[in-house]
Amino acid sequence: MKARVFSGVQPSGNLHIGNYLGALKNWAKIQYGYESIFCIVDLHAVTVYQEPATLRAKIEEIAAIFLAAGIDPKHSTVMVQSAVAAHAELAWMLTCVTPVGWLERMTQYKAKSAAQETIGDGLLQYPVLMAADILLYQAAIVPVGDDQAQHLELTRDIAQRFNSLYGETFVVPQTSLPLVGARVMGLDDPEKKMSKSAGGAGHAVALLDTPDQIRKKIMRATTDSNPAVDFETMGPGVANLLAIFQAFAEWTDDRMKAHFAGLRYGDLKKQVAEMVVSSLEPFRRRYREITAEPGYVAGVLEEGARRVTPVAASTVQLVKERMGLYTC
Ligand code: TRP
Repeated sequence: MKARVFSGVQPSGNLHIGNYLGALKNWAKIQYGYESIFCIVDLHAVTVYQEPATLRAKIEEIAAIFLAAGIDPKHSTVMVQSAVAAHAELAWMLTCVTPVGWLERMTQYKAKSAAQETIGDGLLQYPVLMAADILLYQAAIVPVGDDQAQHLELTRDIAQRFNSLYGETFVVPQTSLPLVGARVMGLDDPEKKMSKSAGGAGHAVALLDTPDQIRKKIMRATTDSNPAVDFETMGPGVANLLAIFQAFAEWTDDRMKAHFAGLRYGDLKKQVAEMVVSSLEPFRRRYREITAEPGYVAGVLEEGARRVTPVAASTVQLVKERMGLYTC
């Protein structure tokens, strides 16, 4: 049996080349070797206020981006979290075995709650819902960025606590992340990971940016005081531009060095911009095709929910039995 992979993306902000190179591109590559579920986690998004019409549109936009990035709905499941009620149902059961102290320690909770006037309880429960997403499908592998490593560790703790209280129920997911991709940093601030929610106009290259927008953002990227590429002394901005090029081009280190050493920054940026624009061309074409067909994305999402519902139901059934809840 193929190992099950589960990952989730919030339908907020704009997916960017960091998401593509760090996640989507790999998901598309590995999907034939695993049984993959890629989930649009709208219930996570609403832990902070989302404008309803924007959220609704974002859900299908993210799904279309997944498909355009090469996720094949014949092999992988693309689904929306709120379409399968068992996510929220299992989250409640897991909440009851999770000490509040574990949740208050989460660094993402601390950062997000500091920015809110009133802290919704959902913000605290966020990692429990994430644990439910993963444990509901008994996923063995959860490819996420290192910013989610603490939540994944918590998922393991919750699974183990449940198993020790009620008997072996959940697969404890792997924490090692064998499916990691490139780590892309912000163009304006190369010390920070490229983010889809933070940063100004020049921070990230969104996957739906036009070629001209892409060129403009890359030409304005932060570099350093050197005039040209020097692999020994380059700063993080130049290293990031080279990493972006290399991840798209799939060149070896030697080839990168031979090609870029001594190149002036203006020329470096032009080449990086053209590499990004041309690499994303097939993506943009597929995205246009996918979104031009009325009902196509909705159909994929409906089929996704239909496919996972029995798996989710059997986990909930098992959890209810283990806990002594009422089953009929
Ligand atoms: N919290 C994740 C993020 O913000 C999204 C997510 C929700 C997730 N549920 C998940 C990721 C389950 C992996 C598995 O990136």
